[in-house]
Amino acid sequence: MEQDSNRLMKEAAGKAAVDSMVKSGMKLGLGTGSTAIYAVRRVGELIEQGILRDICAFATSFQTEIECEKLGIPFYTLNSHQLSGGLDLTIDGADEIDPKNFVIKGGGGALLIEKLTAYASSSFAIVADESKLKEPLGMGFPVPVEVIPEARVQAARALEKLGVAEIILREALRKAGPVITEHGNLILDIRFNSPVDPEEMETELNKIPGVVENGFFTRNSPVVFIAHSNGTIETR
Ligand code: A5P
Repeated sequence: MEQDSNRLMKEAAGKAAVDSMVKSGMKLGLGTGSTAIYAVRRVGELIEQGILRDICAFATSFQTEIECEKLGIPFYTLNSHQLSGGLDLTIDGADEIDPKNFVIKGGGGALLIEKLTAYASSSFAIVADESKLKEPLGMGFPVPVEVIPEARVQAARALEKLGVAEIILREALRKAGPVITEHGNLILDIRFNSPVDPEEMETELNKIPGVVENGFFTRNSPVVFIAHSNGTIETR
């Protein structure tokens, strides 16, 4: 069970981002995970209270879609005429955040759509508790690399050549075998044993044949909302 203090920090970060950045009429990307879910719930609450109107949302995963359904948040596909491939703002969680606001995402396995969404958004916000602040990226929390099933072994070899120290095929819980993503792919969780340049690595990893996307997010500099255990929210 998650500790109450941790849950409260996640909730505070999610709420702070929505309260300061979401406006009526927005096309809004809604992220995935145990922190982003509080932002989704806050949006639902403000719609119910009539404070937010005409929100057109995009959900980055089944988890988020189901929450939107429960809360009555109208959501559409990115290709719909309501969204037409663009968003005003996306709010999402992160696994690690460095001092430049580069992040690792994809602990929940939704990195492909999360990246599409983050990079389709005019503004991007990250919500997290203070435990996510790390430097350098990629040596603690693993960086997920989504690969097509046929590329599993070949991509792993290419990753070794790039200096990756540890490669683990992500296993499913309560199902034998690997995690299958929303797009039918596999996830290789990788770790480096010396610091890497996240911007360069984001590009290099995607050059490997069969790699669909990776969990470094360096190209749409987010506003980061960090909840601290003393009750404050740092925005940077
Ligand atoms: C989902 O794929 C992820 O990118 C999450 O946003 C990230 O793993 C953070 O999740 P938590 O807020 O649950 O730690």
